[in-house]
Amino acid sequence: MTSLDELFPSDAQIPEAVRLPAYLEQREYLVDGELRRWEGELNPVQSPVYVRTEQGPQPRVIGATPLLTSRESLAALDAAVKAYDLGRGVWPTLRVAQRIEHVERFLAAMRQQRTPVVNLLMWEIGKTQGDSEKEFDRTVDLIVETIRALKELDRTSSRFVQEQGIMAQIRRAPMGVALCMGPYNYPLNETFSTLFPALLMGNTVVFKPAKFGVLLIQPLLTAFRDCFPPGVINIIYGKGRETVGALMESGKVDVFAFIGTNKGASELKRMHPRPHRLKAVLGLDAKNPAIILEDADLDNAVKECVTGTLSFNGQRCTALKLLMVHRSIVGPFLERFTAAVEKLKPGMPWEPGVSITPLPEPGKATYLQGLVDDAVAKGARIVNARGGQSARSFYAPTIVYPVTGDMRLATEEQFGPVVPVMVFDDEDEVVKLVVNSSFGQQLSLFGRDSARIGRLIDAFSNQVGRININCQCQRGPDTFPFNGRKDSAEGTLSVADALRVFSIRTLVAAKTTPDNTALVQSILTRHESSFLTTDFLF
Ligand code: G3H
Repeated sequence: MTSLDELFPSDAQIPEAVRLPAYLEQREYLVDGELRRWEGELNPVQSPVYVRTEQGPQPRVIGATPLLTSRESLAALDAAVKAYDLGRGVWPTLRVAQRIEHVERFLAAMRQQRTPVVNLLMWEIGKTQGDSEKEFDRTVDLIVETIRALKELDRTSSRFVQEQGIMAQIRRAPMGVALCMGPYNYPLNETFSTLFPALLMGNTVVFKPAKFGVLLIQPLLTAFRDCFPPGVINIIYGKGRETVGALMESGKVDVFAFIGTNKGASELKRMHPRPHRLKAVLGLDAKNPAIILEDADLDNAVKECVTGTLSFNGQRCTALKLLMVHRSIVGPFLERFTAAVEKLKPGMPWEPGVSITPLPEPGKATYLQGLVDDAVAKGARIVNARGGQSARSFYAPTIVYPVTGDMRLATEEQFGPVVPVMVFDDEDEVVKLVVNSSFGQQLSLFGRDSARIGRLIDAFSNQVGRININCQCQRGPDTFPFNGRKDSAEGTLSVADALRVFSIRTLVAAKTTPDNTALVQSILTRHESSFLTTDFLF
């Protein structure tokens, strides 16, 4: 196999279409409708893609972003608080149709920025070109779908309900100020999957981009500034502890949308002085297992497990992070799985057919090797020929077998291209492992015997948020609920659920008397209220 180091390109080998401007120094951040300039210290953005020179592959710093302090982040929060104005601001009181118009203007501007954003996804987080394009397009579709769901919600909630002599109109109103933070593996999609529902429901937002995949927000900054009233969306940069800690300590954040580790989420939530006022929606750690029963269709199980464990190098919260295979088929499964994994092509994100790419987290290869060494020291072995190979930000897909409960790989979320394979004899062993896990996002079941699959569905239905039959774990379609139990999540996201997360049902109710009916009718026909209305413009 080509040594991984040789896969890094020289400058001349980088195709014109994916080249970045020499150095992207970003000093602007968005507060109160203004792109403010930061004159202080910057945070360098180092690409996971090294560039080959005569001295060998060298790290490439592609730009820098502002290292703001708590002073600037609190100014952003103040702008959001002012724009919300205790629910009396322009944005929270705007009609739904008008809010949608603002978001549609943003969408049109966003579509124009596809190429720079996709290129930055490749350079900043090493995502393949196909997956980067998919992330961009999926995000646009998600916003379009969210608008459609909001129109539907608005239509249905304009109907009056009658119950026990009381008539009411039940609508959804915003919560207040939302803090939205996304993860580095889906820095656009996952972040916007909370940011846009928050905005559409009338909240004002402070948004802090992920730790990697930060510069890719820059091409959208002007659109954010121009498409929303001042203070409605504020974008800050810098170290989480310094910037976000201050926001939580202020007690002025009403909704906390965070995709990251449960440790990080707990620390931040604890800082809020009035936790009962804080609504949280969290997407956290996971250790999704695939359970491969003895009658599974092996070709399908192998295909699904390859993409399930290794697409985007295993850096998906929904990735399969532990394969549990019945002893009677572990030999043929490993043989076919290993052959398929060995075919995965490593290379640069923009190269056709590539699926293994450099990892954005500094020191990740060393961390992964630590997990593998621990397993090997306790009796496992690396199954595939190139397993364990690494070079700088590259780590080759590594299949480790047999993994046992005492190894870190059995319980720790590797979030990378290491595939632990465990063997089981009795399905009770598998059930016990899932029940005792700290995580509860999803699992995959591979098999054909309906009685057995039915029994296992029942065993797992109170353990995880989604049970996948004969396919890998995944979030999509985005209209399906996405959640988890235990340390894996708080709340549910989907196109429709996200709109609920960022709003509270608020109703106007009156006894159904002739006078009240006439009063309500007058308000409706004369358009005397924006909230109590049966008008919808869709
Ligand atoms: O990282 C977590 C993502 O929500 C996973 O989404 O299953 O579509 O890759 P996905």
